[in-house]
Amino acid sequence: MPTPQRTILVTSALPYANGSIHLGHMLEYIQTDIWVRFQKQSGHRCIYVCADDAHGTAIMLRAESLGITPEALIADVKAEHESDFRDFLIGFDHYSSTHSDANRHYSELIYRRVRDAGGIAVRTISQLFDPEKQLFLADRYVKGECPKCGAADQYGDNCEACGATYEARELKNPKSTLSGAEPILKDSEHLFFELGQHSEFLKEWTRSGRLQPEVANKLNEWIEGEGGLKSWDISRDAPYFGFEVPDHPGTYFYVWLDAPIGYMGAFQEWCDKNGFNFDSVWHADSEAEVYHFIGKDIVNFHCLFWPAMLNQAGFRTPTGVNVHGFVTVDGRKMSKSRGTFIKARTYLDALNPEYLRYYFATKLSARVEDIDLSLEDFVQKVNSDLVGKWVNIASRTAGFIHKRFDGRLADSLAHPALIEAIRGRADSIRHAYEEREFGKAMRDIMALADDTNAWIAETAPWQLAKADETLDEAHRVCTTALNAFRLLSLYLAPVMPQLASKVVSFLNVQSLDYDTLDDVLLGHAIAPFEPLVTRIEMSQVQAMIQPDEAQSEASDTESAEAAVEPIAPECSIDDFLAVDLRVARITEATAVEGADKLLRLTLDLGGETRQVFSGIKAAYAPEDLKGRLTVMIANLAPRKMKFGVSEGMVLAAGPGGSDIYLLSPDSGAIPGQRIR
Ligand code: MSP
Ligand code: ZN
Repeated sequence: MPTPQRTILVTSALPYANGSIHLGHMLEYIQTDIWVRFQKQSGHRCIYVCADDAHGTAIMLRAESLGITPEALIADVKAEHESDFRDFLIGFDHYSSTHSDANRHYSELIYRRVRDAGGIAVRTISQLFDPEKQLFLADRYVKGECPKCGAADQYGDNCEACGATYEARELKNPKSTLSGAEPILKDSEHLFFELGQHSEFLKEWTRSGRLQPEVANKLNEWIEGEGGLKSWDISRDAPYFGFEVPDHPGTYFYVWLDAPIGYMGAFQEWCDKNGFNFDSVWHADSEAEVYHFIGKDIVNFHCLFWPAMLNQAGFRTPTGVNVHGFVTVDGRKMSKSRGTFIKARTYLDALNPEYLRYYFATKLSARVEDIDLSLEDFVQKVNSDLVGKWVNIASRTAGFIHKRFDGRLADSLAHPALIEAIRGRADSIRHAYEEREFGKAMRDIMALADDTNAWIAETAPWQLAKADETLDEAHRVCTTALNAFRLLSLYLAPVMPQLASKVVSFLNVQSLDYDTLDDVLLGHAIAPFEPLVTRIEMSQVQAMIQPDEAQSEASDTESAEAAVEPIAPECSIDDFLAVDLRVARITEATAVEGADKLLRLTLDLGGETRQVFSGIKAAYAPEDLKGRLTVMIANLAPRKMKFGVSEGMVLAAGPGGSDIYLLSPDSGAIPGQRIR
């Protein structure tokens, strides 16, 4: 029985309208998009909305420095963001801006309801004011001497020299970073959302199964922490680019007040276009589901302020807030000076978006862990999984169907049990998608691709096709392989939607939705096979990394960071000792027929002999290797490759291709000796 259709509203965090989208951001939009596409593929009504986060001082000042209006700036940035998202195949149902009528409507509505329920306090506060720019100064726009240690040139919130935190007005000799003027103290009325009123509600809400356990725990430390929850300043003084507070002229909603409400504004616009009832999703006891996908840096806004305000304003709260970790590149924080703040567009100019979608999918789980984009691993996964496993199934069997059988599949399968086994994994793969355990789903799918490839290699249809009496069997083998390929493509479709639609054309089917799961393609005409993915080279990836020279010289903090950061995540001595490294002698090295990069090495480990395939053919002639010593990992699980089993790995340095250097111990080392 099909599961009843769910109605699910999904959002990703709204990117700031003052900068470009980079690969860190893309992790979130890719994660969300995969989940949304999976829901749609399963037949649910899933609506994915997002918007640019367009308000705030930073955007106002940036527009001013460019000599344009904030409206013009946010329009340009929105166009850029939308084209980046489109080219990464992010399938928003609607993309809006927080600077919209719909968002103004809901911001005012929520504010009024919260105010009328007694949730807002008005207090006069005293803040630093730039008399030249006529502007109240946020902490990052004030610098001065640390009130604790006296260090010069410190920002208004904390000291980088001694770590002290303080109020901007405590700085000695403060200067406005905008004008250089000395700020004065000035009073103004501010509006505060009284978060403390909601601690009982939040204690329960955060524990109600809507959040990842590690997120709920962190929040409860805050909720139960000393002094409880502090009130939240939701207003800013003019001039400010944002919405004016209805009953307080000259006062504006702080950007973080109207940003999450932007989810509602965007959804309202989608409803208007699609004749859908907004309240059916947002009224207090709606059965519809609402999920926000966000990064770990903005948890307090989404899991404290937001549900508390919604609740006080009489709206429903989110069904779930799904938090992800941060992207690192090769084990380090993204950095401008290292060139690893890779912009979405820089990536798109070099590589296929679906490669990154797949790579992120293999790394994503339901936990709040940072995700490392290891460039070598990226190349390796794309080449080995997408090219070598998945597409390989079709590319090695489709040809026969056209050459020998006129593009028609056979009327029966050679191995129905294989197809049953692949279909039998559907529940578990779907469960993994639903739970955002994409990495697990990808591993399961690739294991099925391995099984399929191994079976094709065993049955060798290319041999069967040589003789008339086994020709039909070859036909059934290829038909089975392509049915396996169809199912695997269906499983992968949320991750690689454009490739999936190419598979739809190639297999000449209606869709790869879950309602086609039980289909078997027999006696069916398929289209000619066109290569779907091509291998990538490390050099293409390296080309994306453009260290910003100006940045590395100009920014001390960046270079200081580079100096103290470890080159790679730490490992324990036990991790190291788990790897059994041995001296090995290469007794035989031969080219592998049909593989342009591989050499087959026979390694002597002092009595034991191993066969290892190594991608060093471009760097070494086989005859130069014979007899030399090297270093190998002797306890690596054997890996079944197209050409045989590889029983370990030899160690080499360098990015790959011909730029690779095999390690060798000094003379005197004996084959079989352990290295530590
Ligand atoms: N405008 C706010 C969100 C308002 S939501 C009502 C904002 N914008 S942002 O552009 O800074 O970030 C957008 C999203 O990208 C956030 O969820 C943020 O956590 C995520 N990421 C930004 N840099 C990231 C990485 N390096 N890695 C992973 N996610 C990152 O915050
Ligand atoms: Zn200090």
